[in-house]
Order: sequence, then C-alpha cells, then structure tokens
Amino acid sequence: MIATAEATGTEVFDVVVIGGGPGGYATALYGAAAGLKVAVVERDKVGGTCLHRGCVPAKEFLETATVVRTVAGAKEFGVQAGQPVVDFAVSQGRKQKVVDQLFKGLAGLMKGRGIVTFDGIGTVLAGRRVRIDPVSGTDGSAPPAEITGRNIVVATGSVPRTIPGFDVDGRLVLTSDEVLALDALPASIAVIGGGAIGCEFASMFSDLGSQVTVLEALPSLLTGCDSDVVGVVARSFRKRGINVHTGVKVSGHTPNGSGTTVTFGDGETVNVDAVVLSVGRRPLTDGLLAEGTGVTLDERGYVVVDEYQRTAAEGVWAVGDVVNTPQLAHVGFAEGILAIKAMLGEPAFPVEYSRVPWAIYCHPEVAFAGLTEAQAKEAGIDVVVKKDPFGGNSRARIVGETEGLVKVVAERLPDGRAGRILGVHMVGPWVTEQLGQGYMAVNWEATPEEVGQFIQPHPTLSEAFGETVLALTGRGLHVG
Ligand code: NAI
Repeated sequence: MIATAEATGTEVFDVVVIGGGPGGYATALYGAAAGLKVAVVERDKVGGTCLHRGCVPAKEFLETATVVRTVAGAKEFGVQAGQPVVDFAVSQGRKQKVVDQLFKGLAGLMKGRGIVTFDGIGTVLAGRRVRIDPVSGTDGSAPPAEITGRNIVVATGSVPRTIPGFDVDGRLVLTSDEVLALDALPASIAVIGGGAIGCEFASMFSDLGSQVTVLEALPSLLTGCDSDVVGVVARSFRKRGINVHTGVKVSGHTPNGSGTTVTFGDGETVNVDAVVLSVGRRPLTDGLLAEGTGVTLDERGYVVVDEYQRTAAEGVWAVGDVVNTPQLAHVGFAEGILAIKAMLGEPAFPVEYSRVPWAIYCHPEVAFAGLTEAQAKEAGIDVVVKKDPFGGNSRARIVGETEGLVKVVAERLPDGRAGRILGVHMVGPWVTEQLGQGYMAVNWEATPEEVGQFIQPHPTLSEAFGETVLALTGRGLHVG
C-alpha cells in the first residue's frame, strides 16, 4: 500500500504526526531522536493546548496567586509589605512571555532535530496519506498539499466540553481557552465543574481576589482523588471563602446588565460577573478522517487504540487526549514514546494507566499515583494505611504551609504487615514536586521495608513520605 503511495510522488516520511501538542511533539522528538524522518502537521502553534491554552498558562497564573498569598502573609514573618494589589494586565503579560519563550524553545528544538513542521489542517486519507489544508483565513489560495507516512500518528487532542444553556461568548461564559486570555479579573465568578480544571481556577480566582462559587454535579470535588485529600482541599476552599455546592445540577443562566444569574439545585441562584465551564474535554476528531482510512472511533468520539497505541488501520497510531486515557500532557508523552518504540519493533511496555502520576495545582496542591484507599477496597484488596499530616513536619512549619498530608496505601499481608505499596496520595505544599518517589514506589511495586531503607533529608517536606512509609513498617519515628 505504501509502495503505491510512494509511487504517487508525494513526499514520504517515516512518521507523519497530526497535531503538535504534547502527545504529538513528544512522538516527533522521540522519533527524530531515534533517527526517523518526521513531519508534524499543526493548524496553530506547536505546543498545543498544554502550552498555549492549558497547563502552562494556568500554572503560571496559579504562581501569581501564590505570590499574592506570600505577600499577604509576609507580616507573619516580620516583613511589612502591605496588602498586595493585582495588576492583572501585567500578570497576563508575564504569562504570555513565559509561554512565548517555551514556544520558541520547542519550535527551535524541533527544527534542530530535523522535524519538518507543516502549517495547516491535517486529514488522514486512505493509504497512509495526509492531506494538509490551509487554515481558513490565513492562506485560502494555497492548494492543499499531500504527504505520505510509513506511519501516521494522530495527536489532535481535545477541546473543552460545553453544556446546554451556556453558549461560550468569551465575556459572560468562558472555558479554559478564554479564561487564560482574560485581561481583567471578574469580581465574582461561578465555576461549573469541580474537577481538576475547576479546582485550579476556583483556587486561582479566589487568591487573586474574586468571589468564587463552585457548582459540581457529583457528591464531591475532585472525583477520583482519595477522600482524605479531597477533604483537605474542600476545607481550605471553605476557609478561604470559596462557596462550594456539590451534588447540584446547573439549569441555566440569565444575563442581567453586566453579569448573569446562574440557576442550580432546587431553584437556587448566584449572581456573578462570569461563568467558567470546566465540565471535561472532548476529543477533537472533527473532519480528521476521510473515507476508507479504517481508523475507528468509539461512541464518545475517541480514536480506538490497542495498548501499543495502534488504531484499527495498519500503520496508523493515536496518542494523547484524542484517545480515551487520562487527559494529562505527560500521559501523551508516554504514549508517544511507546508508539515510536512499537513502530521500531523495540521492547515496549504499555502505559499502566492506573499508576500514572497526577498533579493538580490548586492551593493546596494535590498529587498522587496508584489506587486510592476506596479503590483498593472496592477491588477486594485488604489494605494497611498510614497518614502523615504536614502539621507535624518541620519544613512545613518553617514555610508556614501546614495544611495537608501524605497518605500511603499498602496491601495487607496475611500476617497483618504492610506489603506492596499500592497508592501514594499527597495534598499540601509543593506536593506536585514531591510525588516522584511515591510514583516510583507504586510503579516499582516496592514494599515499605524496601523504601524505608532510603534516607530522607531533614528538614524537608518530602520526608513526610519517608515517615509515612516507615510507619507502615510498624516502626515510625514521628508517625505511629
Ligand atoms: P474533569 O472531568 O476532571 O471534571 C469535570 C467535572 O465537571 C466533573 O467533576 C463533573 O462531575 C462535573 N460536571 C460535568 N457536567 C456538569 C454539570 N452540568 N454541572 C456541574 N458539574 C458538572 O474535567 P476538567 O476539570 O474539565 O478537566 C479536563 C481534563 O483535563 C480532565 O481529564 C483532567 O483530569 C485534565 N486536567 C488535568 C489537570 C491536572 O492534572 N493538573 C489540569 C487540568 C486538566
């Protein structure tokens, strides 16, 4: 089939990647590093949602929120700084500078690796060909181009989901795309959906001075996180004046002058300047597949792949948010690397989705890998659990961030001792940077005895993990 395509005279690459977000650029960089001839087709800018409209700008704004908290709390340290005032246009400018620098770095890195980037909209055609249409409005006159791949990797990502009754207009109703481009802070905001994105935005807006209401349909915030972790975040939100309503259905909104009134639950209402929708993301496959490609989508529109990222069509692969796996940039990286290894016929290990690292950057931060206590019990596993609250940790006291805990879930051996570490759950200061050793322990299937051999520097936040693990051996120093 490919020989025929090559005979058509189109340029042939070892790998043609459609979409230059984390899934796509990781595939391209790893493929190029392995000596493959790689093309990337991108309709906007390489870096994708993560760099331009997601993880990176969101975390940059959350850092601004941290600076506000630090300055506001400075007098406790004897530092007189006055009440901080946010100039959001400056914050927006700094965010954009960070994004632009990273974008330039990535584009340069890809070019340096010999990756050819085509500007345009890619469509998968039969026979492993890819049509590249110009993005409308930029160069409508250019004829579509066609290239051929010995392999094609679909990495077109996802877009925010919306809900009926809430038309996104960029003023009253926003998704993460619009929030991250705001040039002024709304005085009040309703966040619909209390998942990862909703909690990050709620935390950020509250710290920057907006009055925040979170409306979540399920019984708790951050569904999927361990309940002890969710409890800490919920308490912190409450203390900071964030109104959280869980188990409520949102029925619509009525614009009123400069803002809007959101209706939820049993006829309850809240007046806000703006509404943020964070109700999940849907895969972006609109117009992606021409007739006869053999690639299949599931009922929710995700590209169907096997555990090596192979679609139903030979030589066509898919990675990142467009497949139904955790929508995390680093999962996209892992899937891209896996696809290249599998293409090359090298030993490759499918991604263990139940053990990937999660990092949520609300305040307090959340990070975890592996099974929650509830998930382990639901799976019929008898467990031993230990927790170390940051309140007893020296470094947490020093930095003045004592909210949170580390919780380790291990399987219970027949003699009652703790065996394999199944899950590590953290909430508190800088836990997104602390998860590493917990992630390793879970994925190495290590036991508390093994991990307890390692020395933790003192005083550090990360020794809370070591303390918790020592406690699981039955002989903790500070944790019983
Ligand atoms: P999500 O799926 O994590 O959360 C959406 C929440 O909205 C759910 O709790 C759901 O019950 C709720 N919801 C849905 N419809 C609703 C309605 N009509 N009314 C009220 N609540 C409703 O999706 P989210 O937060 O939008 O994030 C999208 C994806 O991106 C997720 O897979 C998330 O894990 C990932 N992500 C991860 C981040 C991180 O790890 N730091 C940061 C941002 C996103």
